[in-house]
Amino acid sequence: MLDVEIAGLELRNPTVLASGILGTTAASLLRVARNGAGAVVAKSCGLMPREGHPNPTVVEIEQGILNAVGLANPGVEEFTEELRQALRGGVPVIASVYGFRVEEYAAVAKILSRAGVSAIELNLSCPNVEKVGSLFGADAELAHEVVREVKRTVSLPVFAKLTANVGDIVEIAKACEEGGADGITAINTLKAMAIDIKAKAPVLGNKVGGLSGQCLKPVALRCVYEIAQEVEIPIMGCGGVTSGRDAVEYLMAGARAVQIGSAVLTRGISVFKKVALEIQEFLEERGYSHVRDIVGLALK
Ligand SMILES: Cc1cc2nc3c(=O)[nH]c(=O)nc-3n(C[C@H](O)[C@H](O)[C@H](O)COP(=O)(O)O)c2cc1C
Repeated sequence: MLDVEIAGLELRNPTVLASGILGTTAASLLRVARNGAGAVVAKSCGLMPREGHPNPTVVEIEQGILNAVGLANPGVEEFTEELRQALRGGVPVIASVYGFRVEEYAAVAKILSRAGVSAIELNLSCPNVEKVGSLFGADAELAHEVVREVKRTVSLPVFAKLTANVGDIVEIAKACEEGGADGITAINTLKAMAIDIKAKAPVLGNKVGGLSGQCLKPVALRCVYEIAQEVEIPIMGCGGVTSGRDAVEYLMAGARAVQIGSAVLTRGISVFKKVALEIQEFLEERGYSHVRDIVGLALK
């Protein structure tokens, strides 16, 4: 009763590991698969290795997490071997791609598609070096261009992962759909910070970072709800999913699956199994025979 189809991917249940958490090695991705996830998204990777931001890069705050990891990754060539091995987990492996130029996204996606990954997720929360001051995910034209170029290059399903650090997220989602995206992931972290009052300085090494966890849920949920009314392609909701109840809210808002990141840190790696079971209990209690029956109920 929990299996879902999303952009051609078959998931045994609607829980998906979000990018950046336990997603850097085959061993950790396989562990997540063994712990019940319906699919896994790997850590974002780019063309070249990147060291990332100085420590501290991850701090816990009230009802959430702040991170400024800075896209630390070994570069796509080294990463493909890990992803190839992660495919043995028996669940779809979605590779996450970032870039600073349109062509960079396409080049990385091409290498990853040769590794046999199940789908590509485009992390659009990156600055464009050619159009200084603009983020791919905050500029409808750029977002459209990246999706179109990647779709031209690979024949895999492509998810556009959006940022809510924008005026109108629906406009960006529509541009991605028109560019050929097969699905939307909403949302990435929100720009935020914390101050250490003893040190009289920002807590994060990078000063500013991204907010995730339970405090993000109302914002992310609103984004999913708004996008679901305007686009046809399926949506993965992401932001603060910790319990089956959270997942049900996202599904009712129009998402077909939910990604889980920060809750892996707060509820443990078995969070996927737990959330799936809690969704199932909800469905049984309310007399629904399948999870698809509750998708979009709150939109009506
Ligand atoms: C430590 C950390 C690292 C992350 N790295 C990435 C990343 O590499 N690429 C990406 O698209 N999102 C990244 N994210 C964002 C998550 O995938 C997710 O969009 C966000 O955390 C909201 O979901 P959550 O509240 O369930 O954590 C990261 C989040 C955290 C906490």
